Amino acid sequence: MDDQCTYSHRSSQNFKKMGTWPDDVGILGLHAVIPSSYVLQKELEEFHKVSAGKYTIGLGQDKMGFCTDREDINSLCLTAVSQLVSKCGISYKDIGRLEVGTETIIDKSKSVKSVLMQLFEESGNHDVEGVDTTNACFGGTSALNNALSWIESSAWDGRLAIVVAGDIAIYAEGSARPTGGAGAIAILVGPNAPLVVERGLRATYMAHAYDFYKPNLSSEYPTVDGKLSIQCYLSALDKCYQLYCQKARKLSGLNDESNDAVGLNSFDAMIFHSPYCKLVEKSLARLVFIDFLNTPSDRVPEVYPGLEQFINYKLENTYFDKEVEKSFMNFSKEIYKKKTLSSLWLSNQIGNMYTASLYGGLVSYLCNKSVNDLSGQRIGLFSYGSGLASSMFSIKIRAGQKLNNLVSSLEYLNENLNKRLKVDPIEFSKLMEIREENHNNAPYIPVGNVDWLYPGTWYLVDIDDKFRRKYNIKE
Ligand SMILES: CC(C)(COP(=O)(O)OP(=O)(O)OC[C@H]1O[C@@H](n2cnc3c(N)ncnc32)[C@H](O)[C@@H]1OP(=O)(O)O)[C@@H](O)C(=O)NCCC(=O)NCCS
Repeated sequence: MDDQCTYSHRSSQNFKKMGTWPDDVGILGLHAVIPSSYVLQKELEEFHKVSAGKYTIGLGQDKMGFCTDREDINSLCLTAVSQLVSKCGISYKDIGRLEVGTETIIDKSKSVKSVLMQLFEESGNHDVEGVDTTNACFGGTSALNNALSWIESSAWDGRLAIVVAGDIAIYAEGSARPTGGAGAIAILVGPNAPLVVERGLRATYMAHAYDFYKPNLSSEYPTVDGKLSIQCYLSALDKCYQLYCQKARKLSGLNDESNDAVGLNSFDAMIFHSPYCKLVEKSLARLVFIDFLNTPSDRVPEVYPGLEQFINYKLENTYFDKEVEKSFMNFSKEIYKKKTLSSLWLSNQIGNMYTASLYGGLVSYLCNKSVNDLSGQRIGLFSYGSGLASSMFSIKIRAGQKLNNLVSSLEYLNENLNKRLKVDPIEFSKLMEIREENHNNAPYIPVGNVDWLYPGTWYLVDIDDKFRRKYNIKE
């Protein structure tokens, strides 16, 4: 199994030995599906009559990808899973678990997973566990955890798992509209992986909050309290990071007194769920602020020169403290460039992909580093879903042919991004209105232009009078 191009599950090495876990369980393959059309944030600023720079500099967004009514969550996931299976050279028979993470709901009962079973029909494999997992942008991480747990459980039968995280993120006209996006990431999960999810290093923070939710089932738009969602995101980040560091200290046999022994220095990269890029830059600065607060005060002048005035600050009082934010963003500029910036490639070009956003960050990071640089690195990942559910975990990268294959299999993305169709804000708005007016309509025939789609993309053909959806593949 080690270091070959394909991921056949039949190797006996894969099967769990009695009483032991399989080795190096993690990510074997990744495939990203991005929208083939976009709107420029700069043009949106003019169209929305907000001050120049609000979306591009203030939010850090360049372009926003979107889907017409030709695509829905089923079609996005059909494209992602079928293309992952084909590029990894596996058979649908090799898959024993398929998990979907999404918050894009088009049916209150029938899962996206069940729709994806069409792909398995020809192989005759119906023995595929897993259904959908939903909690705002966190569903993809929960789905990944389910897949990892299955492989490390007594239920595992030696086959591989696929996780697909996908969403169409659109907001009503108003301040949240520029933070939309869309996309899906399919993840092949199994043992002997090049991206190993580290055991015992998962820190979770869950709480009840009404920061973003979708109570109106007849609309695609969420009810969102933007400022509260930022506060919830940052407070969840604080909690997860502190708990992760605590667990890492324990695993390394360090006592709790050595507070700054584990921190950002323990990671080669730090990747975040990205509602918009500026929040991620602020989040990285916040982790530096937490490391700073954990540093014994006699060492602060040497390690954090010029920041001594913040020694007695309390994390919970600083969510919107501009002085703290600015000072630590300035201080962490180089760390941000080194550990986080390259993970924001897709986020900057597409926008928020909700459940897929964090994994889009991982894909971006892998695409923008050499395999040599990646080998041996530890990546921290922060997953956040409003409502709220959040986790921090880490991945260790193993060098080898499998890593080379995984990274080179993502090269198509740059070309796909460059091939996208630019749509002006007036047309974009009309297309959003069409989605809005026809959401949950039946019977319905979409009007979105199939010619816009990349070849190999699944799309919605029609919805019949019983709300049954039919799909086809663009030649
Ligand atoms: C994020 C969100 C609240 C921003 O909307 P808003 O309140 O209209 O935006 P703001 O007025 O705060 O402006 C956004 C940023 O642009 C800056 N800005 C405004 N005009 C600017 C200009 N002309 N040039 C540069 N920056 C500008 C603001 O100062 C602000 O930066 P800051 O947050 O660092 O202070 C809104 O888009 C939203 O609700 N999005 C969905 C929810 C979300 O993504 N939440 C994140 C956590 S999950």
